[in-house]
Amino acid sequence: MKKILFSMTDDNSAGLYDEEINDIYHSKTGALKEAIDKFIIPSQLSNLVKLKDEINILDICYGIGYNSKAAFISKEKANLNIDCLDINPMLIFISPFIKDNIDDFDLKIYLFSEILKNCRESSEFYVKNFSTVYLKDVQFFEPSMINFIKFLITEGYIYSGSSLNLSFLHNIYYKYISTDMKNSKKANKYSNSKINFKIGDARNTLKELDSLYDVIFLDAFSPQKAPELWTINFINLIKNKMHNNSVLLSYSKSTPFRSALLELGFFVGKTLINEIDMGTVASMNKNYILNTLSDYDLALINTRAGIFYEDSDFTLSSADIIKNRLIKISRSDKISHTSFLKSSKIL
Ligand SMILES: C[S@@+](CC[C@H](N)C(=O)[O-])C[C@H]1O[C@@H](n2cnc3c(N)ncnc32)[C@H](O)[C@@H]1O
Repeated sequence: MKKILFSMTDDNSAGLYDEEINDIYHSKTGALKEAIDKFIIPSQLSNLVKLKDEINILDICYGIGYNSKAAFISKEKANLNIDCLDINPMLIFISPFIKDNIDDFDLKIYLFSEILKNCRESSEFYVKNFSTVYLKDVQFFEPSMINFIKFLITEGYIYSGSSLNLSFLHNIYYKYISTDMKNSKKANKYSNSKINFKIGDARNTLKELDSLYDVIFLDAFSPQKAPELWTINFINLIKNKMHNNSVLLSYSKSTPFRSALLELGFFVGKTLINEIDMGTVASMNKNYILNTLSDYDLALINTRAGIFYEDSDFTLSSADIIKNRLIKISRSDKISHTSFLKSSKIL
């Protein structure tokens, strides 16, 4: 199993680091804060809920679920339909238990119940792994949720194959685990929402979805580490899941990514946090673009730095995608990134 390390981020939510690919999953300044600042706020979800009764969201690279969780807590009363893609089912499984600085146990129980539906036949495997591998890092998990899963295991519920439905879990949690009975309500407030999980390489699982989404989160590892989810071909697959008023959000401000979005006809803008460029917003509707790219950004995209990643059959390895781009760069007659920076007096 690949080695994933936990750390506490600055907003008291647990973050992860992948040793194998040497990349972080979450910003050190706050895993939850990052989800809110780079995904939820620029998605303009708060305006959208005034216009639509149901909102379809696609969370590409769910991981331990910060972006979906942030969407749920920001819009408790809205009906959200969220489809989540990730290649690592263990992360999905542990996501309701993470110490995420979200004090909303209805949400955690709701997620756990929906995740169990997706992985019932392998829940034994996940629970064992959870206990032996992840719970060594117990300080990164929510104590009451850990008590909850221990209770379910001890009582034999988790292995019984019986359907652990939401109301059953909800009642058990508030009867036996929660120390604050005032929290206990008759129904889980998320019961009108929907969340589904598709496990596998998003290049394949995305093709299996047939909805159109109002909001799409793209939270893959950085383009230099995992270019397969930033290729013009993959972005085109995403585009096929969008309507004219959909919006795509990412933390990435990479030049090849923005270049591919422009090539595909998107309006592209940036997410400004304290006036600093911290991510990308793309839509076919210009009104979603609150902060447009500057002349400098556009000029940079026109250099070799703007040559996008390609993977037309969705089969190439990361290394081959990077190698092919470097070959294209070496053959390009565009100005190099370095010459551009020199001519702009940046170097
Ligand atoms: C930066 S992390 C995402 C963090 C996540 N949004 C969260 O809130 O925890 C990148 C995620 O991409 C997943 N991933 C990597 N390659 C993938 C692929 N080809 N298809 C789908 N998911 C992938 C990893 O398992 C990891 O969870």
